[in-house]
Amino acid sequence: MARKRLAVVNFGCQMNKYDAERIVGLMAREDYDLTENARDADLIVLNTCAIREKSEQKVFSHLGRLRELKEKNPGTQIAVCGCVAQRAGSGISERMPIVDVVCGTDNIEKLPDLLRQAGEEQRSVVDVSVDASFDEPSVIQRQTEYAAFVSIIKGCNHRCTYCIVPLTRGAERSRPSRLIIEEVKQLAANGYKEVTLIGQNVNSYGHDLPGERSFPALLEQVAAVSGMARVRFVTSHPADFSEALMETIARSETLCKQLHLPVQSGSDRILRRMDRGYTAAEYLAKVRRMRALVAEMAFSTDLIVGFPGETDDDFQRTVALVEEVEYDSFFLFKYSPRPLTPAASMPDQVSETKKKERFDTLQRLQQGIQVKRNARYEGRIETVLVEGPSKKDAAKLTSRTASNKVVNFVGDLSLKGKLVPVEIVRAGLYSFEGRLAAHSS
Ligand code: SAH
Ligand code: SF4
Ligand code: F3S
Repeated sequence: MARKRLAVVNFGCQMNKYDAERIVGLMAREDYDLTENARDADLIVLNTCAIREKSEQKVFSHLGRLRELKEKNPGTQIAVCGCVAQRAGSGISERMPIVDVVCGTDNIEKLPDLLRQAGEEQRSVVDVSVDASFDEPSVIQRQTEYAAFVSIIKGCNHRCTYCIVPLTRGAERSRPSRLIIEEVKQLAANGYKEVTLIGQNVNSYGHDLPGERSFPALLEQVAAVSGMARVRFVTSHPADFSEALMETIARSETLCKQLHLPVQSGSDRILRRMDRGYTAAEYLAKVRRMRALVAEMAFSTDLIVGFPGETDDDFQRTVALVEEVEYDSFFLFKYSPRPLTPAASMPDQVSETKKKERFDTLQRLQQGIQVKRNARYEGRIETVLVEGPSKKDAAKLTSRTASNKVVNFVGDLSLKGKLVPVEIVRAGLYSFEGRLAAHSS
């Protein structure tokens, strides 16, 4: 039988990228190959994100554009997976009857059956039920060759008042370390050099499984897998970022000296209203302690401007925190009210104009900091993992440093997947230009 074609449109975070790779893996067993072109696909999967209103709008406008295609090829199936699926459930197929399947974040394994059922019964099928455990080995077809994501915990037990994730990904469920280690060993055997352990809050790893190791202990075990040269992880909640974890990072050669530690705001009043569970001073103390252990640690963060009730004074505290930490990079967001979250019904919502003004101020500030931080790299020799040809300039290779900076340099394609020394010639705002330094292999 001829193989069928699957197109995946992916939105959202690392969790969704990982789930997309699982969807490709699962559907490969059902005789589907991945295609770039939705127009000749037999199945189109939208893997969706609900984090901000705009993310959700993108999904519906994409579905709107698929209507014409579905009219032309009624046999093409359309599935909506991910966080919008989990949140809106049957609301999606009611609003968009072209959708054949709505499949929640805990039900990816069921996608092939749901598609079959929708085909046989000629109606839309919705499954957003919740699975209490996380112990399936993943069927997964990775879309990257040398650096992979491995999920270690799903869901989130925090209740940040702005955030929809607890409603779309459910409670925390750790994956048994036996399965994680097996997956990492398999990756190393297949030539992968780097692994990023992912979860909404990796620091809570193991708490829900009796007798399971803690996150620092898991990290040590993963870092010890032979052949795995680099280990990263996202995301760490600052309140759960422990001394033991800092010491583990400092001790290990394999654990990258790069840390994503989302602060959200520099104002204690706002942090309290967000229910983040730390003060700005406590956050800064952890950053200082980490830097005392590893001076070169590259920090990145997430920030929200215009959270309900944020005054100019609150905002100035965020500015002061950003100036003090000097992040290597950050992700900046304008607060977006999400249905059923406490912050959405707080009375003192901030105007769009204020949000934009504060967004622009922080953006400018960070650009200056980033130029300064990046300039320190010029002239240094850095070990980079070569990913492949650069998308912007085919004559160059693209690669990453342990601190997660992108370095482009002229080199032979045979270097793909290798760790090589590169001299940083010019540091830009978002990427570096390098020159291959002499090396032995
Ligand atoms: N689990 C991670 C991040 C989850 S979402 C953590 O706890 O940090 C990624 C980022 O999106 C968040 O860190 C936050 O900065 C942003 N975000 C979440 N909800 C948002 C909202 N309603 N409006 C604007 N930004 C939001
Ligand atoms: Fe959302 Fe907070 Fe959980 Fe992160 S820690 S996923 S921001 S609720
Ligand atoms: Fe978006 Fe869901 Fe991730 S809401 S950020 S895809 S957990």
